Parts: sequence; structure tokens; C-alpha cells
Amino acid sequence: MANRIEFSPGVKKEWEGILTRYPVKRAALIPTLHLAQREFAVLTTEVEEYVAALMDLSVTDVHEVVTFYTLLPRRPRGKRHIRVCRDLPCHLLGSAEIIDRLEKRLGVPPGETTDDAQWSWEEVSCLGSCDVAPMMQVDETYVGPLEVDGLADLFDRIENGETPQALPRDCDVPEKIVSTNFGRKEACRLRTYRASGGYEMLGKILTGMTPVQVRDTVKAGNLRGLGGAGFPAAVKWGFIPKDTDKPVYLVVNADEGEPGTFKDRYILEWDPHRMIEGMAIAAYAIGAHHAYIYVRGEYRRPTQRLQAAIDEAEAAGFLGEKILGTGFDLKTVIHVGAGAYICGEETALLESLEGKKGWPRLKPPFPAVVGAFGSPTIVNNVETLAYVPEIFRRGPAAFDEIADGCERSGGMRILSLSGRVKRPGPYELPLGTSLRKLIFEHGGGISGGRKLKAVIPGGASAPVLTADEIDVGCDFDDLRKAGSMGGSGAVIVLDDSD
Ligand code: FES
Repeated sequence: MANRIEFSPGVKKEWEGILTRYPVKRAALIPTLHLAQREFAVLTTEVEEYVAALMDLSVTDVHEVVTFYTLLPRRPRGKRHIRVCRDLPCHLLGSAEIIDRLEKRLGVPPGETTDDAQWSWEEVSCLGSCDVAPMMQVDETYVGPLEVDGLADLFDRIENGETPQALPRDCDVPEKIVSTNFGRKEACRLRTYRASGGYEMLGKILTGMTPVQVRDTVKAGNLRGLGGAGFPAAVKWGFIPKDTDKPVYLVVNADEGEPGTFKDRYILEWDPHRMIEGMAIAAYAIGAHHAYIYVRGEYRRPTQRLQAAIDEAEAAGFLGEKILGTGFDLKTVIHVGAGAYICGEETALLESLEGKKGWPRLKPPFPAVVGAFGSPTIVNNVETLAYVPEIFRRGPAAFDEIADGCERSGGMRILSLSGRVKRPGPYELPLGTSLRKLIFEHGGGISGGRKLKAVIPGGASAPVLTADEIDVGCDFDDLRKAGSMGGSGAVIVLDDSD
């Protein structure tokens, strides 16, 4: 039976363009569902049937993907949609009361739409903006910190067409590398990045270094994977089989979802070129000519800024074919996720990139051998790649020495500080800086005149440290010895009332 619905000609053309970005058709499923949502608003059974026919898949294949991800709606939403975060940092600072007030104001429980179809709302997990907790997302805009007493006024303003945005935090630290441009005017533009030597290292590397030399330099800088695992970045790069006749892929993990973590959002929003330069250097080091950047679906503004930066970099010859006149090509595609915490895990992310449910794969084989589309793949986190150019700028020994007393880690990392502190925010500090220094010197100490009870030092999955255990360095090895983990670098602070 013929479908009664179909994409308008403009959207159909866009869809055909999407198909060219992937080596297998199914990988375009989630982008196609995003298009279908834009075109038809709701992913009804009829839409699923249409998408299945377009993608040469069964309706079951499409349905299982639609129902796995939270951002693919199967029920109509209101004209405006609100997501209120109820995860730990937001909860500590009052999200339960915000949710209560919102329910009274809208007159419908979470997950529902008002009778006049103007509003729908839901409670969600961490949106990666815990520095402005408690917070919510109105359509695509982040709003916070919310105040219970100011909520009625805020709603009046939103109903009048205003959407006040959450502002970036300015964090006072002695030295900045990756966070240098956070919050600055035109920070995300190519000319801003180039004004401080941006892309110079890429040029020097492509014209004067072999991939092996690049890997050795990053190894000597002791750069660890800053997404959570802390595995040495260049050692991971070295796992790509030397004799492979398959294409090699670089996948950038920008699916930041660990509760309490917001550093990658800052990098994508405020300095995407720094990450792009690191990505291009990493791709050269592993012999990849295709890079996929998997960004979590909630990160609308970071995605827009990242895409604009990729367009600028391509136009200026820093990405694309024959980069800077050399023989090195790198095609870059942003792949927007559809809402699933588990896709932050690298093999789940690869499943999702291939257009499936984000279920983790059994290892071995490891992605470096069998990764995206059955080919050797390196998955690196945004922040890890953003530090790569600096290793070449300073030299690996100088980069390594920035870390404070860490034998196996070099450089800095951005600690996402949230919870019961006076000054939450993204603090870029040498690896090994103590939790005490972070919380009491940089973060201003405990808010509300209360006492510190405990700290979760590496995202909500990390074991809790008590108040007398915080003289430990924020480094993967030190925190492991202390019985916890460095994880994503999200430091959540609890006081004696929690
Ligand atoms: Fe609410 Fe992270 S944004 S906990």
C-alpha cells in the first residue's frame, strides 16, 4: 500500500544529502528520524512505516529505534516544550520544588500536554548545565539558575516570547588552555582561534611530522583520555592495526551525559576550533580520512556552533580535501544523538552511529580493530582532543609538567564543579590539584554557611568521598587509590544537610 505521507521536496533533498555522509544506509536512520520529526512533529506508526520504506528497513527495525531514544516523540507535544532537570546537582539545589510549582502552574503532570496544546513538559536527567542548577530547557534554550520565587515572573516572560538564557560561568584560575575563550565575545569564530595561533600546529604537523612522530609526541605529553576512562590517548591510537586495508574512522564522543558533567558543552560552544584542530591532528596520527562527531541530542546550540566552525574550517582549508595544500583529506560529519545516556559508552555510541539502539557491544574485539561499520575506529572525547594542539605548542615535556605531581598524567583538565559550592563552574586546573583546593579556593567553599559532608569526584557513577578524604589530587591514579575514580571530572559537592 502506498504511503499517505511523504517528505516535502526540500526535505527529501536534504535526506538524500544525509545518505551520502555514511558508508551504510542504515547509519542515516537517526538523522532521518530527526528530519521526520521536523516534518511531521510526531513519529506515529504511519511515519515509522514511511521511514522504514525510505531506509529499506522493516517497521520493527525503525520502531525499536524510535522507542529506545527519549528525543523521538511518539505523542504530540505542546507548542512549547519544557524539560526540567531532576538529576543530582539540580536536585540538591531545589529542582523538586521547581517541578512541584511547574505542575501547579501548567495544571498537568510531567509527560503531559496542556489542554490548549500550548505547553508540554517532562522531567529529565542531567542536561549538562549543572553549573546553573537548578535549570530547565525551554524548547532548545537552557534557562538557569532557577529560583522558586522567581518562577512565576520567569514564566510570564517566556509566555511573552522571551527566553532568558543561562550565562556562561567565568572561573578564576591561574592559567587557562582549553577554557581561555569561554564566555568571550566571538570566542567560537575562526578568527578568534587563529589570533592566538590556532591551526598553526596542524600546518606544522602535516608538513613536517610523520603519524608515528605525532603519536610519540602525544605519548610523551602523557595525555590521558578525559572522557572517563583515563586511558593514555596515544597508546589507544597505536592500537589501529598497521596492515588494515579497511578505512579507519575517528569518532569524537560529544555525547556528554554523565550527571554533573558540562565541560564538553563549554568547549563546543565557546572554542570548537580548538577541538577541531586536535581532531584533525588525531585523524592524521591514526590514518583516518573520516571523522564523525557524535553530539548529544539536547546540545542544540553547541551543535550549531560546531557546524559553523566546521564550515569555517573547511572554507579556510583546515578540513576537507588536501588540507593546507598537503595530500591529507579529512571529511567531517556531525551525527546528532537522540537521547540515551548509555551512548556515552564508546561501543554503545558506535551502535547508535550505525543507526541502531545504543546497546554496548561485547569486547573484544575492541573498536580499534572492529569499530564503526566493521572498520578500525578510535573513539576520543571532545576535551581530550582539545588538548592535543597544546602538546605541540609547548612541547610534550612542558605539557606533561603542568600536572601537579602526577607520574602518569600530563597537563590539565576541566573539572565541572557543581552542587553546594558558592561558585560552581568549569575549572581548568593542573591534573593532581586537590579536591580541597578546587572546592575551597576556586569554588569559594560551601554555600549557605553549611559544612562539607561529601564529594562525588568523577561524575555520578563515582564512589563518594567523605569530607576528611578530600586531600587527594583530581587525577585518575590518585582518585583510584583513594577508592573512587576520576571519571568525567564532574565534582559534585554535598553539604551536611544532604
Ligand atoms: Fe541538572 Fe546537570 S543539568 S544535574
